[in-house]
Amino acid sequence: MSAIDAPEKAPAHDNGPFGEPTDDTAVEMAELRRYRRGEATPDSDLIAAEPQGRRLSLRWANGDTGEFPLMWLRDHCACAACRHPMTRERLYKLMDDPLWASLDRGDAVAQIDVAADRLTLVWADGHVSRFDAGWLHQRRPGHELESLLPPARPWCEGFRPEHVAHADFAETDAGRTRWVTAVLRDGLALLDDGPRELETVSRIAERIGPMRSTNFGGRFDVQSKPNPNNAAYTAIGLELHTDLPNWRQPPDIQLLYCLENAAQGGESSFTDGFAAAEALRLRAPEAFQILARTPIDFRFQDEGHDIAVREPIIDLDADGRPREIRFNNWIRDTLSLPADVIEAWYAAYREFWQELRDPARRVELTLAPGQMVAFDNRRVLHGRNAFDPNTGKRHLQGLYLDRDMLESHLRVLSR
Ligand code: OGA
Ligand code: ZN
Ligand code: ZN
Repeated sequence: MSAIDAPEKAPAHDNGPFGEPTDDTAVEMAELRRYRRGEATPDSDLIAAEPQGRRLSLRWANGDTGEFPLMWLRDHCACAACRHPMTRERLYKLMDDPLWASLDRGDAVAQIDVAADRLTLVWADGHVSRFDAGWLHQRRPGHELESLLPPARPWCEGFRPEHVAHADFAETDAGRTRWVTAVLRDGLALLDDGPRELETVSRIAERIGPMRSTNFGGRFDVQSKPNPNNAAYTAIGLELHTDLPNWRQPPDIQLLYCLENAAQGGESSFTDGFAAAEALRLRAPEAFQILARTPIDFRFQDEGHDIAVREPIIDLDADGRPREIRFNNWIRDTLSLPADVIEAWYAAYREFWQELRDPARRVELTLAPGQMVAFDNRRVLHGRNAFDPNTGKRHLQGLYLDRDMLESHLRVLSR
């Protein structure tokens, strides 16, 4: 088999509004993200395909090349037998394919056909696979598919969170995109000028996804209560903290909607836990390492619950960057560590606490009725000043959302 060059240029194809082909000649890849030529990947005409052992080497008009293992190409066939045409999910099972040995040897392709907009492969067993040239270009091995999500941006001195008008969020894709982007990027965003109506927070959440329930229920009321089972339900000040660090998976995104804030005090503050951790790593690397490497106990108990985990304060990803902060001084359980580690751990904890309180990275605001704050509870810490319930009423309604739903919302809006 030799390299086969593209014949003359085929006409370009466009996506319909939902990514569907707008003519019957475009290759349908069972993929809703944009991929067709002239849209996501201009200049991605395919010009050559050359077999090289167990791989197929592709070249596009813009000079990009890609080496595709034959087994990958077979696994990604998007025909109706290999991908369910309604669910878009994979039906093909590599495990049951008699062609496997041949794919592994590199003699599994009987015919290769290259056109500007597509690659057609006829396999040794007669199965035909068609691939859109732009789709392949986006997915060439070794090149990460471009993320549709904003990367986390650490707060610098003078950081001010994004404000979006409630009406923009409720009525426009652009408003919701701006809000979701800010929550994912900064871990904090505000919605302004919403109605002073109970359950507005539930209406807002419904636009994004189902709420995440906890031992405090689904949608919860934050106000001073007669028999509180949690510090938030008192009038005392709340030191900067993350919610529910005693859960294996603490809730991702917290929404707090202000209905009334007439009491004296009760001002809110926030800080970027990732930025504080980075500052600690630079200033006191040993303290950083102790907090990252030492799991400690977090625990909540009331009549019906005893929810506990043992995790570090700073959880690092495989590259050593903070992935999650668990910091909540009243939910922290008995410190169960060897005596010599206890002293070092407390010293490190104080160092981090000091970074968290750094006024340069702290955002302070007083929530107005009709205003909502949203934050990434696994990155950004929140707190409030004590308030005096005798001077007026303070009432917030809150709930949690999964980050997956915010990310999904952005990806869908980018189609
Ligand atoms: C909470 C909380 C902050 C506030 O409910 O978890 O921290 O402003 N509330 O009352
Ligand atoms: Zn197929
Ligand atoms: Zn809280």
